[in-house]
Amino acid sequence: MNASPKLIVLGVTGSIAAHKAVDLTSLLVRQGCDVRVVMTSDALRFLTPLPFKTLSRHPVVTDLYDESEGWQPTHIRWADEADLLLIAPATANVIAKLAHGLADDALSCIALALKPEARLLIAPAMNGKMWQHPATRENVRILTERGAQFAGPDTGLLSCGYEGIGRLEPVESVAKQALELLGVKRPVPSTPRTKSQAKAKGPH
Ligand SMILES: Cc1cc2nc3c(=O)[nH]c(=O)nc-3n(C[C@H](O)[C@H](O)[C@H](O)COP(=O)(O)O)c2cc1C
Repeated sequence: MNASPKLIVLGVTGSIAAHKAVDLTSLLVRQGCDVRVVMTSDALRFLTPLPFKTLSRHPVVTDLYDESEGWQPTHIRWADEADLLLIAPATANVIAKLAHGLADDALSCIALALKPEARLLIAPAMNGKMWQHPATRENVRILTERGAQFAGPDTGLLSCGYEGIGRLEPVESVAKQALELLGVKRPVPSTPRTKSQAKAKGPH
């Protein structure tokens, strides 16, 4: 890896798969990336900032109006500094917001203020009908046309009880795609799993 580590802003949104972003943070940090985490207010309903703060070794942005580092709003500084904005898991809601340029929280403000050369990688996780809804299909089309890349979603058993498309892509695969986009050539180690976790591909 180059002397200056790649800066990844990781956006975590209000999906049942949000806990998997903890492993993703750990993987990316172990690959030498500087990871800054921003959580939406709905993501905070699923888990606390603590694991992200500890693993990324940076404060976590959770509120547009409660950013305490220096005079410049943290979300603007992170948008300026980011090499990659990775949103994992990405809800149908955040995908819609990004497609239409809404900026009503820290994550969507970062997305809008990102420098043109920064990359955007979106790893969706949602119910299959949400993913296949024409509104979401159109939002994905808009973002893809604008240069965003998508990782997944995967198929399998969903937490909503259905089987099909909508699972978050495995974090190793999301990390691999992120590193490829950044031009970092290092094999991504798999996350430590228990034997039972490895056997069962459980919901989300
Ligand atoms: C238990 C539960 C699980 C949810 N999981 C998802 C999900 O995986 N994907 C999704 O798009 N929305 C999911 N939602 C709905 C989102 O939380 C909701 O659309 C929210 O407004 C998203 O906000 P955010 O995009 O700002 O994080 C879930 C809601 C609940 C209550």
